[in-house]
Amino acid sequence: MDYSYLDQSHLDSILEIENESNPFPWTEGNFKDCLDKGYYSLALEDKNKFIGFAIMAISTDESHLLNIGINKNERGMGYGEKLLKKMIIAAEVMGSKKIILEVRLSNKTAYQLYKKLGFEEIGIRKKYYRLPEGREDAFVLSKSLKRDLISKFFFSSD
Ligand SMILES: CC(C)(COP(=O)(O)OP(=O)(O)OC[C@H]1O[C@@H](n2cnc3c(N)ncnc32)[C@H](O)[C@@H]1OP(=O)(O)O)[C@@H](O)C(=O)NCCC(=O)NCCS
Repeated sequence: MDYSYLDQSHLDSILEIENESNPFPWTEGNFKDCLDKGYYSLALEDKNKFIGFAIMAISTDESHLLNIGINKNERGMGYGEKLLKKMIIAAEVMGSKKIILEVRLSNKTAYQLYKKLGFEEIGIRKKYYRLPEGREDAFVLSKSLKRDLISKFFFSSD
């Protein structure tokens, strides 16, 4: 398995996942904006095949997981969990106090993955996601992070 930073060459593969996963998917422009803004964004490949992606805005206070997706045919094989663990480590190394994210109330798969990795519900954003008819609420989930990695790498005396 190989991780790399997301770039323009991954856009077609990302859009394929995104379009298949969401009734109102992010556009190519949305993904390009994330790349332009320099968000922490990883691509996961296995034997040169694109498997999935994750995008996170990192901040020392609160990092925000903005999107994550795995190829439809490769779901349920542990890739999403591995990718999310990398995002958590990245936020920890940068000294974030926590990671927050939104997830549709109906997205049980993603919800289970987040709960498995220690995210907890902290609220609901009403009508956060568009649907073909109406809108759907989102759970807001948060995971508190240990701050020992930042101390180890940046705040030690040597
Ligand atoms: C959500 C997503 C990223 C999960 O990735 P994945 O590679 O399929 O997940 P994994 O195989 O790593 O599974 C990890 C955990 O997720 C949960 N999970 C995975 N598939 C599940 C399913 N079909 N039903 C319930 N929980 C599931 C389980 O807790 C699982 O742990 P377990 O195997 O010990 O039970 C993937 O399903 C996806 O791309 N979905 C479409 C896009 C999306 O919804 N993104 C999230 C937006 S908030």
